Amino acid sequence: MSGGGDDYKREESVVLIVIVSLAALSLLSLIAAFAYYCYITRKVSRRLNSHQLPKRSSSPAPLPLPPPVIPPQGKESPSSNSASDGAAAGALVVGAERGVQLFGYRQLHAATGGFGRAHMVGQGSFGAVYRGVLPDGRKVAVKLMDRPGKQGEEEFEMEVELLSRLRSSHLLGLIGHCSEGGHRLLVYEFMANGCLQEHLYPNGGSCGGISKLDWPTRLRIALEAAKGLEYLHERVTPPVIHRDFKSSNILLDKDYHARVSDFGLAKLGSDKAGGHVSTRVLGTQGYVAPEYALTGHLTTKSDVYSYGVVLLELLTGRVPVDMKRPPGEGVLVNWALPMLTDREKVVQILDPSLEGQYSLKDAVQVAAIAAMCVQPEADYRPLMADVVQSLVPLVKNRSASKSCNPNAQASRPLD
Ligand SMILES: Nc1ncnc2c1ncn2[C@@H]1O[C@H](COP(=O)(O)OP(=O)(O)OP(=O)(O)O)[C@@H](O)[C@H]1O
Ligand SMILES: [Mg+2]
Repeated sequence: MSGGGDDYKREESVVLIVIVSLAALSLLSLIAAFAYYCYITRKVSRRLNSHQLPKRSSSPAPLPLPPPVIPPQGKESPSSNSASDGAAAGALVVGAERGVQLFGYRQLHAATGGFGRAHMVGQGSFGAVYRGVLPDGRKVAVKLMDRPGKQGEEEFEMEVELLSRLRSSHLLGLIGHCSEGGHRLLVYEFMANGCLQEHLYPNGGSCGGISKLDWPTRLRIALEAAKGLEYLHERVTPPVIHRDFKSSNILLDKDYHARVSDFGLAKLGSDKAGGHVSTRVLGTQGYVAPEYALTGHLTTKSDVYSYGVVLLELLTGRVPVDMKRPPGEGVLVNWALPMLTDREKVVQILDPSLEGQYSLKDAVQVAAIAAMCVQPEADYRPLMADVVQSLVPLVKNRSASKSCNPNAQASRPLD
């Protein structure tokens, strides 16, 4: 009896072993099938990727000139409701030079009375500027480069490249250029009232000259210039950093409407949020942001600093650097900054030429904007869009009340 029982038990354990081995086998084959499936899917997706996606280069190709960005419908920056802005009107031609004429030297020679002294309206570091009239009757300003060498050539090219592509009613329009033999000339719209600097300092910057620019006009110029920078920083990609924003580069038309000019030193900014480009330090003394002067790291916030300096000029009627002033007053930012946020002291620093035309509330507000723009910490400076937004209500209020200055015949609606 016990022998039959043993046989039965042996048979039972053999069956158990077979079942367990079969189960293990099927489990193994399941695992193998799954692994094979994963391997195949990865291979297929890799192949698809390599066929369909362009390979990303680790070092980006040289930046194209900023193709003007046409903002998506209904997503304009809050401040920009100007229909005359190329971008706002969707009138920009991406990547194309639009409407910039090529002139011959003789043509421009004839248009400016042979570059005679009587036609000269100014002199800058690039060369002299002459008033001229084209055969079709258009009034122009012709800048004649008298600075041979690489820097002058680079500035000429940058000015032509950028202004051919950027279109904003707050930037000076380039009509054309001439590049014949050794001659380099730039032809601009003529701005009947020259530059802001001349109007702020009728005595050439020394104390005592009385500026005829009244408060509402100054506010409007501040707003229009801010819109010019806002366009460069926030409405083109990559952003354009002006690098030489100053009161002599804000030009005024016959109605004292402002346009930002001179892009010779402009740089394309970084596409990355908070990014910078490294470059040698160029610009004008008194307007250059401290971090840029020290490190060569350039961001749009460097322009915001320069804008703050211009705002201080408009408020105080003082030039950015004047070492003939009493000790502690020579550098405008250093002198004004501690007083800008103190209501009582703001009155003391305002341009005496304004003779109390301003409302104290407005002046305090403009001083606060200037203080934010010129603060040493670049990251805490506002964006130009913020500056524009803060100035818009001030300008609207002032234009509602009557201006007491014959200069301020602004007929153009605020944009
Ligand atoms: N489009 C223009 N219409 C009328 N006047 C102009 C025009 N462009 C320049 N000017 C006049 O010519 C002067 C010289 O301008 P320019 O831009 O050459 O030099 P700047 O800005 O004064 O100095 P820098 O060359 O150092 O930047 C200006 O101050 C202005 O009075
Ligand atoms: Mg200039």
